[in-house]
Amino acid sequence: MDSYVGPPASLLKPLSIPNKVLLGAGPANCSPRVLHAMSLPVLGHLHPECTQLMDEVKAGLQYVFQTKNPVTLAVSASGHGGMEMAMCNLVEPGDVVLVTVAGIWGKRAADMAARYGADVRILEKNPGENFCLRILEGALARHRPVLLFLVQGESSTGVYQPLQGVGPLCRRYDCLLVVDTVASLGGVSVQTDQWEIDVIYSGSQKVLGSPAGLAPISFNSRALSKIKSRKTPVSVFYWDVKHLSNYWACSDEPRQ
Ligand SMILES: Cc1ncc(COP(=O)(O)O)c(C=O)c1O
Repeated sequence: MDSYVGPPASLLKPLSIPNKVLLGAGPANCSPRVLHAMSLPVLGHLHPECTQLMDEVKAGLQYVFQTKNPVTLAVSASGHGGMEMAMCNLVEPGDVVLVTVAGIWGKRAADMAARYGADVRILEKNPGENFCLRILEGALARHRPVLLFLVQGESSTGVYQPLQGVGPLCRRYDCLLVVDTVASLGGVSVQTDQWEIDVIYSGSQKVLGSPAGLAPISFNSRALSKIKSRKTPVSVFYWDVKHLSNYWACSDEPRQ
């Protein structure tokens, strides 16, 4: 075969990856169970064994998130993909979105929400600080947002954000609570249903001890009602929770 571009030299020699000790905030070393799973044969995405595995992954994610939300799945992306999916589905142009910023990840979420047309309001603290219920309530009362965004483990500063009491507060102000647990899920308590978190997402390569490339995410019924009542379609087909939850058989409708 004629090749305009020849094979790179790296293809012609064995792949060699050194063994490194990976420490927090991640990526972390994978568990032997994960490494073994990655050496197993590939299945077709509609093979019954694959859909059975997807059901098992879903149940595992419900366990780690501590939720009974039927719409709990993993998207093929790093942690940013979870953030993108949450914002893309929940935000409509003109929606007031309140983002807490005390490090990199709040800033990133604010940028994403703005790209989906949100009227972004920032509640800022110095790096190294977190947000108490009194400050959060003041901001909810002032801005009346449709969505409040918090990071449970702000990896850029190493700060933990307590979440107890935030969900009920958001309900009082008719606001959805979205929580980033990319750097915390598996390492600290996460009680999605008990804490009344509406959308929660994470990433696979940190405390969960898997390679990067999966973003677990869960939507409760309040979040799904907001999405159902959208006046405009979700602007990115790939992130649309309607399609992804059908693929993951999260509803009673047949998988397509
Ligand atoms: C708190 C937090 N959110 C989001 C991300 C983005 O995740 P990823 O790098 O997997 O896209 C990170 C990554 O460090 C993070 O620590």
